[in-house]
Amino acid sequence: MKFFVDTADTTAIAELNDLGMVDGVTTNPSLIKKSGRDILEVTREICNMVDGPVSAEVVAVDADSMIAEGRALAKIAENIAVKVPLTWDGLKACKVLTGEGRMVNVTLCFSANQALLAAKAGATFISPFIGRLDDLNLDGLDLIADIRDIYDNYGFETQILAASIRTANHMSDCAKIGADVATAPPGVIKAMANHMLTDKGLAQFLKDAAEAEIKIV
Ligand code: E4P
Repeated sequence: MKFFVDTADTTAIAELNDLGMVDGVTTNPSLIKKSGRDILEVTREICNMVDGPVSAEVVAVDADSMIAEGRALAKIAENIAVKVPLTWDGLKACKVLTGEGRMVNVTLCFSANQALLAAKAGATFISPFIGRLDDLNLDGLDLIADIRDIYDNYGFETQILAASIRTANHMSDCAKIGADVATAPPGVIKAMANHMLTDKGLAQFLKDAAEAEIKIV
């Protein structure tokens, strides 16, 4: 499973990228707002930092304007994936932009039917939002599994990009289901390293090392 990092914070991206943990980046208008930076400037900087796809989201709502914004975003760098919402106009924009050879990430997916439409429209990525479904006492992981089944049934090449990931367990659960990509905030990716038995075991080893006066260099 590829790891995308869900942020426009370039410091956080750099730290994970140095460890080889970043296969791509996803942003959205809320993350751009949080960064406090100009969308074109920060997206260009991110594209220069990472080799993989960098999703940048349109803010128009009609297909023609989305297409115009998508073309402008795609000019930033070769690795831009234009992010469009899963609306009828978004699907139209997806079809046109992928037809021009651009990567398109169809976002705000909350149902298997929406994912089916995105695949038919030629989406490069479909972004089902796990956490926002879980917030409503629905099961976001069930949606990932349903889309995996549907895409595999028909050989759709659209990649399942599990989004709205809130916990480290979401990451391993998505990997078990077979999501192609999971995008998570930097803190969630770092939290995957945590285990209380690791902390407990390390404390004991350090105590014993000190008592045995173990020195290596
Ligand atoms: C990813 O593409 C989405 O922008 C993101 O995962 C949304 O996450 P949230 O529901 O935590 O805002």
